This record gives sequence, structure tokens and C-alpha cells, in this order.
Amino acid sequence: YRAVARKKDLLGKKILVTAGPTQEAIDPVRYVTNHSTGKMGYAIAKVCMQRGAKVTLVTGPTNLPKPRFVDLIEVTTAREMFEAVTALAGEQDIIIKAAAVADYRPREVKEEKIKKSDTQMSLEMEKTDDILKFLGENKKEGQFLCGFSMETENMVANSRKKLEKKNLDMVVANNLKVEGAGFSGDTNVVTLITKDEEVSLQLMSKEEAADHILDKILSMSV
Ligand code: CTP
Ligand code: CA
Repeated sequence: YRAVARKKDLLGKKILVTAGPTQEAIDPVRYVTNHSTGKMGYAIAKVCMQRGAKVTLVTGPTNLPKPRFVDLIEVTTAREMFEAVTALAGEQDIIIKAAAVADYRPREVKEEKIKKSDTQMSLEMEKTDDILKFLGENKKEGQFLCGFSMETENMVANSRKKLEKKNLDMVVANNLKVEGAGFSGDTNVVTLITKDEEVSLQLMSKEEAADHILDKILSMSV
């Protein structure tokens, strides 16, 4: 069985993984979120653990079972994820940000349920902090920073911009337009984008993709 037969090539490494969506409250009964099951991040955390790493998983709300032998930190909002991740970032060798963080949150959370009226309603939104950008600006010597990228057009060019702007070592770009790819399934089609190259992986399970991502990271770190 592969999991036990696995080479412990991440032994001694501290790895922080984020997964899932965030939820930003509008009022006591409603929130803003995005499509994310958390499966990719959980697969990465599991594979990291099986390959010998000491893993912390910071996760937004998902329906997935708690992974074993992983330090689990459950959060709800982008702000909570920011706090949890930045508190632990300094001690990590590798940080992999698979979470789908909300870019905006309602400017204020209403204390009472908003009642419907006969007219349209609008919601004022403010930006959340970009966790990954903060990590890139505060990257410690030798630390490997891997982001994810969700694009519906110009995937490689847009992902490259994120690589540069956020000072990342790799971006895993999700091919949303391909059959078998995307949020909800157990398979994915991703492209690994680094400063010097782009590696397009075939359709494969999220755990297999996780293995490829970690192989690439190991090949690039000293
Ligand atoms: N990310 C983050 N904090 C945010 C928003 C995004 O850490 N507030 C991270 C995600 O976890 C992901 C990466 O940034 O690893 C890219 O997320 P993505 O939504 O694809 O890109 P954005 O930079 O948010 O830009 P846009 O949504 O406009 O494409
Ligand atoms: Ca975004």
C-alpha cells in the first residue's frame, strides 16, 4: 500500500497548509463565500504527513473528515485565517495556500437579520487582507511559498502575475475549463508555474497531484 511504502522524504520538515473556503457574515443567518470543498488542501496535508512532515492544516468550513496525524486549526473568516497563518508562518519550511479566501467581506455585520423589502438591496463590501501577499513580504530565508490560482481566462499569464506580485516560489494553477477539473471532484488538472517553467499535469486524483506538487517543491529546495 502506497501510503506505508512511501519514502519519508519530508521528514523533519514543518509544513503549513491552508484549505477550504472562508465565510464572511452578512447578518446572523447569511454569509458570503465561494466554491471550495477543501479536498485539494486536505489531500496535500495528508500526503505531506505520509511523507514524514510535521503538518499544520488551517482550514475553513468543509464537510471533510478530520485528517489524522495533522495539527488541525479550524477557522471561519479570512481574518481568522490571517491570524492563524501569520502566527505560525515564521517556523515553517514550506507553506502551501490552497484555501479559497474571500477577497471581500461585508463592511459591517448586521446584528439582526436583514428583512426583505420591495426594492433591491445592495451590500457594501471591503477588502480582506491578502494572506499570501503578507507571507511573501515577510518570507524567511529558505522558506518555500506555494500559492494556488483560480482563473477562468488567461490562466498562465494571470498566475505568473500572482507569482511575482506575492513573491511566491510556485503557483499551482487550476484549469477550470477542463473536463474533470475544478472544485468539487476528486480529480484535478493543474499547471505548476515557477519562475523558470510551466509543468502541465494530466488529469489525476488530488492526492496524486499533491505528490507531484511536493516532488517539485523538494526538487527546488536545498
Ligand atoms: N489568497 C490569500 N488571501 C486572500 C486572497 C487570496 O492568501 N485574501 C491566496 C489564495 O489562498 C491563493 C492565492 O492567494 O493561494 C491566489 O488566490 P486567487 O483568488 O486565485 O487570486 P487573488 O490574488 O485573490 O486574485 P483574483 O481573485 O483577483 O484572481
Ligand atoms: Ca481571490
